[in-house]
Formats: sequence, C-alpha cells, structure tokens
Amino acid sequence: MMPAEQQVLPVLEESAGTRTMAGSSKRSDTPAVVLGGLHKSFGSQVVLDGIALTVQSGETLAMLGRSGTGKSVLLKLIIGLEKPDSGSIHVHGQEITRLDLEALNAIRKKMGFLFQHAALYDSLSVEQNIAFPLRRHTKMTDSECTDRVKQLLASVGMESDLKKMPSDISGGMQKRVGLARALALEPDILLLDEPTAGLDPITSGEIDELILKLQEEHDMASIVVTHDLQSAKTIADRITLLHEGHVLIDGSFEDLEKSDNEFVSEFMKRDS
Ligand SMILES: Nc1ncnc2c1ncn2[C@@H]1O[C@H](COP(=O)(O)OP(=O)(O)OP(=O)(O)O)[C@@H](O)[C@H]1O
Ligand SMILES: [Mg+2]
Repeated sequence: MMPAEQQVLPVLEESAGTRTMAGSSKRSDTPAVVLGGLHKSFGSQVVLDGIALTVQSGETLAMLGRSGTGKSVLLKLIIGLEKPDSGSIHVHGQEITRLDLEALNAIRKKMGFLFQHAALYDSLSVEQNIAFPLRRHTKMTDSECTDRVKQLLASVGMESDLKKMPSDISGGMQKRVGLARALALEPDILLLDEPTAGLDPITSGEIDELILKLQEEHDMASIVVTHDLQSAKTIADRITLLHEGHVLIDGSFEDLEKSDNEFVSEFMKRDS
C-alpha cells in the first residue's frame, strides 16, 4: 500500500457521514464528473497534457491506455489525492481542485474508490475491512452490519472467506474485497482501477455483471480503468483511450473498432 493511499482511505471513510443504505442516488442533469484542460507533471515528466472528459450520472466510462499513461493518476486527481498543475475538475457541478480538506471530504462522501492495489487494512480481517466504513458511518446494528457485509461479500463471490486476513488471500481476492468495501456506502460515483486484473475470466465476468447491475440499480456514474477490452465492451457506455497525455479517442466500442487512427487500431488488435 502506498503511503498516499494509506492517508486517503480513512479520510474517505471519515467523510462518508451517516448515509442511508436505500440507494438514494437521484438522477441529475449535472454531469457527475467534468474534467477540463487537466495538466499533471511529475518533475520534468509530463503525464497528463490537457485532458477533457465528461461522465454523466448513470454512465459507465471505461478508460484504456498503455501502462504508465496516467490512468491511475487521473483517478487520484478526481478524488483529490493528487492536485493538477492546471485545469478544472467538477464533481456534481462543484469545482474541487482548490477546495480545502473539509470541503473536499464533503465531496468525497459521494465516491467509492478501488485502488489498483486494493489497499486493504492488513491488520483487519476481510469481514472487518468491509465492516469498517459501515460501523463508522452508519447506525447499523451489529447484526445488520454483519448481514450487509455478507451480502457485499456474496456479491463479489467471497462469502466463505470473511474470517481470513488480507495476507491469506490472493491478489484477485484482495481486489474483490476492495470492490466490496468501495460499494459499502453506496456511492454515487465509483472509480475502479483495474477491478478485474488478476482474476480468471469467469470471476472477471461476474465482476462485470455486478458493475452493470449496480449501474442499473443505483444510477451510479463509474469510471473503470481496465486493460481488458472485452470487459470494457461489456460494461461501458463509452470508452476512452489515453495516449501521450491526451484523450486519443472517446466513443463507443464500435467507434474504436472503426477508428483509422494507427495507435487505436494497433491497441484494439493487440488487446483482442
Ligand atoms: N507520485 C508520483 N511521483 C512521481 N511520478 C509519478 C507519481 N505517480 C505517478 N507517477 C508517474 O506517472 C506516470 C503515470 O502513472 P500511472 O500510475 O497513472 O500509470 P497507469 O496508466 O495507471 O499505468 P498502469 O496501467 O501500469 O497502472 C508513471 O510514469 C508514473 O511513474
Ligand atoms: Mg494504474
């Protein structure tokens, strides 16, 4: 777990507040996330060089791109874990790049985040990891909490592993627990960094089905970073391909297939 991720997790959970568990999202005409002219460099390395992107409520955007193109950095900018050098980030209409921590935390209430490396609490069991935000931010009784944890674990196919420690489960299983934890407080915006990486095709398919179901039931906006083109095709309303700091293409799976851009065609060929 990276130190920065360690820092943000309690903040995300702390900020979640007391929420109802009744799927309270309301469809809004205001887009869930709007990125405008985002630039981000680390030292002399330019990672994001003017990203513009909009994700509507209820929409799932799959984000593709070669390793090191800045996909994880982009998600971290959206939750305010990294700050852009310039550009704007609107979340449900509110610009977040210059907010103080308190205001940022209020925005983070609406977001569920799965880090690329799951970032579970090592000293807590699977059950405790998922129960953590529930116990802290809802008024659930112990038995309600246990039921909810079991339900979340069942939704990611992990119901028989609740007593295990993170070090005793595989990387793919850690990822599924991270996904269950990201969903625990029913976010309006879900940011998933490689949710199916390291999973077998059947489990990957089940995770895809879960993402689709959540999208239908809760009207969530999701940004899903994935290297899996089939998964992107299944879950996404739109697909975007990041390349050399830019959004190279933003459209349907068919748009990507039909594209005559050399890099897009090469990417589609290699990944299929
Ligand atoms: N905190 C940081 N300090 C310095 N460089 C960073 C930092 N975070 C990311 N980078 C650099 O930014 C670039 C993009 O990283 P990022 O993790 O976003 O790639 P990615 O597209 O998610 O790749 P992958 O598909 O392998 O996960 C990389 O070159 C990385 O080394
Ligand atoms: Mg990444």
